[in-house]
Amino acid sequence: MVIQVLKALLLGLGAFQAVSAESSTYTELYRPQYHFTPPKNWMNDPNGLLYHKGIYHLFYQYNPGGTTWGAISWGHATSRDLTHWEQQPIALLARGYPNNITEMFFSGSAVADVDNTSGFGHSGKTPLVAMYTSYYPYAQTLPSGKKVQANQQAQSIAYSLDDGTTWTTYDKANPVILDPPAQYSDQILNFRDPNIFWYKPTKKWIAVLSLAELHKLLIYTSKDLKNWTLASEFGPVNAVGGVWECPNLFPMSVDGDDNNVKWFAMIGLNPGGPPGTIGSGTQYVVGNFDGATFTADADSLFSGTTLPPSDSIIFADFEGTETFADLDWTPTGDLINQSPTNGTVPGQNPVTGYLGKRLVNTFLNGDATTGTLTSKPFTIAKRYINFLISGGYNLNDTAIHLKIDGQIIRSATGTNSENLVWQSWDVSSLQNHTAVIQIVDSATGGWGHINVDEISFSDSAVRSQVANWVDWGPDFYAAQAYNGLALEKRLAIGWMNNWQYGGLIPTTPWRSAMSIPREFSLTTINGKATLVQAPTESWGSIMSGKGLDRSFLSVDEGTKSIGSVGKALKIKLSFSDRDTAAAGLSQFGIIVRATPDLKQQTRVGYDFATKEVFIDRSRSGNVSFDSTFPDTYHAPLASNARGQITLQIYVDWSSVEVFGGQGETTISTQIFPSNGATNAEIFSIGGNTKNVHVEINKIISTWDN
Ligand SMILES: *[C@@H]1O[C@H](CO)[C@@H](O)[C@H](O)[C@H]1NC(C)=O
Ligand SMILES: *[C@@H]1O[C@H](CO)[C@@H](O)[C@H](O)[C@H]1NC(C)=O
Ligand SMILES: *[C@@H]1O[C@H](CO)[C@@H](O)[C@H](O)[C@H]1NC(C)=O
Ligand SMILES: *[C@@H]1O[C@H](CO)[C@@H](O)[C@H](O)[C@H]1NC(C)=O
Ligand SMILES: *[C@@H]1O[C@H](CO)[C@@H](O)[C@H](O)[C@H]1NC(C)=O
Ligand SMILES: *[C@@H]1O[C@H](CO)[C@@H](O)[C@H](O)[C@H]1NC(C)=O
Ligand SMILES: *[C@@H]1O[C@H](CO)[C@@H](O)[C@H](O)[C@H]1NC(C)=O
Repeated sequence: MVIQVLKALLLGLGAFQAVSAESSTYTELYRPQYHFTPPKNWMNDPNGLLYHKGIYHLFYQYNPGGTTWGAISWGHATSRDLTHWEQQPIALLARGYPNNITEMFFSGSAVADVDNTSGFGHSGKTPLVAMYTSYYPYAQTLPSGKKVQANQQAQSIAYSLDDGTTWTTYDKANPVILDPPAQYSDQILNFRDPNIFWYKPTKKWIAVLSLAELHKLLIYTSKDLKNWTLASEFGPVNAVGGVWECPNLFPMSVDGDDNNVKWFAMIGLNPGGPPGTIGSGTQYVVGNFDGATFTADADSLFSGTTLPPSDSIIFADFEGTETFADLDWTPTGDLINQSPTNGTVPGQNPVTGYLGKRLVNTFLNGDATTGTLTSKPFTIAKRYINFLISGGYNLNDTAIHLKIDGQIIRSATGTNSENLVWQSWDVSSLQNHTAVIQIVDSATGGWGHINVDEISFSDSAVRSQVANWVDWGPDFYAAQAYNGLALEKRLAIGWMNNWQYGGLIPTTPWRSAMSIPREFSLTTINGKATLVQAPTESWGSIMSGKGLDRSFLSVDEGTKSIGSVGKALKIKLSFSDRDTAAAGLSQFGIIVRATPDLKQQTRVGYDFATKEVFIDRSRSGNVSFDSTFPDTYHAPLASNARGQITLQIYVDWSSVEVFGGQGETTISTQIFPSNGATNAEIFSIGGNTKNVHVEINKIISTWDN
């Protein structure tokens, strides 16, 4: 109710800055200049994305009382161009705030009920209806007479008769979906995030909900937004390394052909995001929807168990029922006299993705178990050592090591997920060395365990493909698409943060930004309907006049400084792919947000050997607030038919987003560089790079123009 001041600032009443505790200049060190942030306090998921009467509404999970999660309410902002945002009063304030909160308003969506099916309309006003998850901290009897348990999640509705400014909760009957279906009654604490939309052929509303722990979506239908009937369920499929949240379901035409419409399910996953990330991520599944049931296309599903390459020599598959010692692994600590287990251990979420019947799982006496397992010595004779791994993320304490002469030469760790994924060590430079493999668990706290299976030697690396990822970076979550737009216009926004460290990022007095709004479409790539994304801001209005635009027939190996270019940038980089038979790094890219001494830098580039685009934020500025933050993120990207690779890179005061190719690959990352980190530099590693084109444009603030 109190954040009106920004509006005043936008109107140019700058005097408020000096006098109001609510004021924000939008010039703080890490303040995004063209990504939405609330003036202050905590924000997470986008909610209720609705285009109505020429206005894009953005509601969002918001704590009016501080910069960490709590007192969850629905904040609200509006825009006419998805670029300039105007802060609005809180739409749904946590009930009982601030003294004794009895209901929080978790994620959900909103629709314009133009046919007044709900009966909420009056005096000719179209009701906007929001459906959200009510979270009840206390057991209580509600005004509707319905009883809820402590910490229950149930689904409620609210409506607005003034185009979204003020909202009335439907207390007469809320929650309109009280409990999960009887067979899932034990999931009462993990039933959430309704995504509602109108399905014209049956003239019904559809609500898609998640049974988070079970990796299931439930689909409900209703004629009036009040009385809901369960129609079907979907899942689990593909990535299941963490809870399923914030589902979305909507149609898109394939290749712009309105006679070939597919349905697109988008699902948040936390943890268990894309390979190489820790924490949250967003996956999608393409399929069909008939008004009741969503069916995935076969080519949108992954079996989950990628087999090792056919030339593999299996070193250890942990299938035996004997003790580790009898399987020739030397145990220490609590692992003495223990054996491989299956994936179902009391007190642990199911371990998934292992091969055969058993694996190493150090969650024995819960996370308290510690010890090591050391293999017999072997001679390295193939290029890669491949293995399946999951469990705690800690390179020292829940890890697998390759040791030569007692020294750790390679290490790998889990991703705070139980879902095993393939990891590989390239050991081509270690041929003929005698080595041992050691599995270590010296951690006892949360995620103080490690799961390992199927250690094998091969001349190729194995990668798990378990999902279609909307974004391959660590900072794109809980994405939602707009209701109220035509079929050919699918716009989505994600939360540009990650539950792994979301509450620790060094921003103040706000925490979290939204991604650039993205236009989604489906394009056939390699025979498969594939998500393609384009950033949608009205760039013309926020780009400063004269940018840099240069072409080079060839860029020599080495680096090329571009000097100080700024902190908010729109960059386009294109270059020819390179043949790479040779060993060693072979990369081309751009360093952004660098200090003149390059001590701080963020690298965005392409690896010609692995055909991957990457963002390396390991030296991006303040990376110390979370041990998983300094890292490099990779995503597959093929060159186009002309052998060119194109990267569109969007840099803001605390983020870098890359759209690769035609938008089939994106990576979103936050960074926290110092104010002086304004330099850029081109790099070409392992050879020269041909047909290079670089365009750099400065972006001006959306908050003062
Ligand atoms: C807060 O509200 C709950 C539910 O109405 C009630 O049980 C509890 O006693 C209240 N606590 C305080 C401190 O008022
Ligand atoms: C909507 O339905 C309600 C309940 O039937 C009715 O009272 C109201 O007049 C309707 N409003 C509009 C705008 O049609
Ligand atoms: C709710 O909808 C179902 C299915 O359409 C119907 O059978 C039932 O009577 C409705 N209940 C109420 C209270 O309207
Ligand atoms: C896994 O092992 C436990 C303990 O040995 C056993 O009770 C359980 O039935 C096994 N589960 C499966 C799926 O094999
Ligand atoms: C791992 O151990 C090394 C060397 O002892 C230490 O420098 C590093 O900080 C440790 N890392 C973590 C995540 O504990
Ligand atoms: C490894 O040993 C084999 C067999 O002795 C030999 O042919 C090969 O050249 C050695 N490779 C390296 C890289 O030393
Ligand atoms: C980095 O951010 C953390 C969290 O805000 C803060 O405690 C720390 O002092 C910062 N470090 C530097 C070097 O600024």
